[in-house]
Parts: sequence; structure tokens; C-alpha cells
Amino acid sequence: MISLEKASHPLKGDVFVPGDKSISHRSIMFGALAEGTTEITGFLESADCLSTIDCFRKLGIIIDHSMRPTNGVPTITVHGKGLHGLTDTSSTLYTGNSGTTTRLMTGILAAQPFDSAITGDNSIEKRPMNRIIKPLTQMGADVSSMMGNGCAPLIIKGGRKLHGINYRNPVASAQVKSCILLAGLYADGDTVVYEPALSRNHSEIMLQSFGADIHNEIARDGSAAAILHPGMPLHGMKINVPGDISSAAYFIAAALMVPGSELLIRNVGINKTRCGILTVLKQMGADITLQNVNESGEPRADILVKYSELHGNQNNRFEIGGKDIPTMIDELPMVAVLAATANFDTIIKDAAELKVKESDRITTVVDNLTAMGCDIEATEDGMIIHGGKPLHGTDINTHNDHRLAMSFAIASLAAEGTTRILDDACVNISYPSFFTDLQRLL
Ligand code: S3P
Repeated sequence: MISLEKASHPLKGDVFVPGDKSISHRSIMFGALAEGTTEITGFLESADCLSTIDCFRKLGIIIDHSMRPTNGVPTITVHGKGLHGLTDTSSTLYTGNSGTTTRLMTGILAAQPFDSAITGDNSIEKRPMNRIIKPLTQMGADVSSMMGNGCAPLIIKGGRKLHGINYRNPVASAQVKSCILLAGLYADGDTVVYEPALSRNHSEIMLQSFGADIHNEIARDGSAAAILHPGMPLHGMKINVPGDISSAAYFIAAALMVPGSELLIRNVGINKTRCGILTVLKQMGADITLQNVNESGEPRADILVKYSELHGNQNNRFEIGGKDIPTMIDELPMVAVLAATANFDTIIKDAAELKVKESDRITTVVDNLTAMGCDIEATEDGMIIHGGKPLHGTDINTHNDHRLAMSFAIASLAAEGTTRILDDACVNISYPSFFTDLQRLL
């Protein structure tokens, strides 16, 4: 449990956030499937990414942590064994709280010559897996839910011949897309995944750098396509992971909430499929500028944020929906908290996916903001936040959801009295040093 008080002074200074979670997971996975070594710097050493390392070690991949002798930079080295180098494991692979590990690994396991089983914690065992079972089955894989409820544990029978598919995913989901593409690396024909809007494309960018023949396109009907021609071997490489914009979001919001604040958040990934929060906050009048932009590979920049009075657009309201949602899906709890402190109504729509994240984030955000005094309503696909009512500190139940813990820690900065984050240890899932980094600014 951690207790926090309203901010007593502006937040000023430089912040470094840890490495991007999505990119860190992929660097281990693709490194394991590549020939030769992959050296990763900036890797996020949080519980979720350590689960990915653990799973690959069980599958026979050697992964070392070391400090680079020249500059002392922590480095992870993955000794890849090529697409066909994983070895059978007798134990069930355990993915902890990580949806990315569970879904992407299942795509890889579906193509292996051996049988396997995979599961995670209580939250993982409630999250929908039919969204990957269905396309993998269409490819010829044999993947089933052990309890028959469409959730993990998943049982994967090996030795199946996989076929390429054209798959139209009804929701934009990088986990589903990447799962299918990874199975597609082993298929006998091309795989194309269509989605209503482009979800984060870290898999496509990184697989291309490893040597795969893969690219994104906008289809005639406006949907986003990821197209893979299998057959190319992957080659180990050097990867420098940028800071995670999902972690930067907490400090961006904090600077916008506390009058007089000015923060420079250094070396953050600004891939367009992840940057919705910057676009939307700028439309609300946030003073956010990018410095030292580096566009090569995964683009990155320093983000300068100055306290700003936010505004709605028409009729003192602001609507967030449509194609912006996948580009800021993990930041919506933080945006909802920020909206509660603004003097207008914010409508978040087209975001039903929030219900199937680490917690049901429509319910958990609405319940906790209501407990802090906010006037907020849950809707079928989002929420309506009537901003401007003063917030007060209270006990926050995070439901073991890291993004809830961090969003409500930031809410405390604008709330009268004491806010207590009851199960604060869950920040280890994506940002182990979050409270230390926050305290440094207070
Ligand atoms: C992720 C994709 C998103 C995101 C998650 C990480 C990834 O999930 O919410 O935190 O690394 O591919 P969905 O694919 O379910 O949208």
C-alpha cells in the first residue's frame, strides 16, 4: 500500500521512462527465432517481459544479462536457434499477467513439432483466447482451451502443417495480428491480416529488420493490412528499445494537471500507431512539443510537456473514438483521470476492448473515479466523464491492474487529502521503478 498527497509544488525536470514493453517482448521472441545472437539494450526488465524470457528459456533458448564492458549499459543477449530450433518442454509455460506473451507465444507454439501448454495468472485465465484460437485453427493448427471456456490454459498439439490465411480481424489488436503473423512464418503460403484500423505495428517493423518479407498496406476498403510472405530466415541483430510512451503517459498527465509544471521525458518511442495520446491531448490544448526526433527504425523523441489548461471542442465537450482508440488504448485510464480534472465533458467511445484488458477497465476506472468524487458514467463502449468536480483522496482498488495503480497515483496529485493505492506492487508488471521516479518529482 502506498499513500500519496496532493502536489504541493510544480513538477519540474527530466524523466527517463523504462523501455517499451511491446518492443521488449518482441525482441526476445524474434531473437529466439533468429539465427545468431541478438543484443538488446533499453530492455524493460519488468515482470511481464521477464515472463517472456522465462518461457523461451524453457524452450531451450539461452538468454544472458550482462553489462557492456565498454560503457556499462545493461544488455540482454539472446542466442537464437533459428525458426526450427525450439525444444520440447515438459512443463506448462507460465506467462504471469502478460497477454502479449500468452497470445504471441501461442502463435509460435502452434507451428512447432511438439505439444505444449500455456497459461498465466488469474487475470490471464479470464481473458478471451478464442480471438487467436479461431484464426490459428483456420491455419490448420490444433489449439484448444483446456476448460472449454475460450480462455487459458491453452493446449497446443504440435506437428501440424500450417497454411497461410487472409484473416479479417473485427477489432484492431496487435496481439491477435502478431500471433497470426508468427504462425504465418511457418505456413506454406502468404498470410494477410486485415484490421479496421492499424494496431501497433512493432511486429511488422521488427520482423522486417530481422529479414522477414513483411509490410503494412492500406487496403482498398480503408482497412489496414499486414502482409507476410514466409520463407525468409531471421537473422540476429542489435536492438535499442526506446522508452515506453505508455509509461511516459503518466508523467505527461501529471505535468498537465499540476499548475506550473514542466517535464522533459527523454527518449520515448513515438511510433504513430502508439501516439494517439499526444494527438488527442494537443487537440485539447496541451502544450506538448517533440525534441531530438529520430525517425530511423522505431521512431523516438524527447517529449516536453508544460502545464496547460485543457479545453473541449464543441459545446464544452471532447469526444475520443474511432481510429484514435487503438493508438492510445492502454493510456485511456490515464486520459480518463486527466479528463476528470478538466472543465468539460469527455466522451470515450468505440473502446469496448477496455473490458478485456488486465481488468475490466471501464468498470475499474469508473468505480475508482466515482470514489474520488468524479461525476462519471460507464457506457457500453467507454465512459462519459463530466470533468471539473473537485477530486478527493480515497482508497484505490487497482484489481492488480498496473495501469490503474499508476493512473490513480497521478490522480492523487490533483485530489484533496490522502490517496492510498492498496495493491501498489502490480506496477512491477510494466514499470517497477514507477513510485521511485514519481517521488523524485514531488
Ligand atoms: C499489445 C497490444 C495491445 C495492448 C497491450 C500490448 C502488444 O493489446 O493493449 O498492452 O504488445 O501487442 P491488444 O492486442 O489486445 O489490443
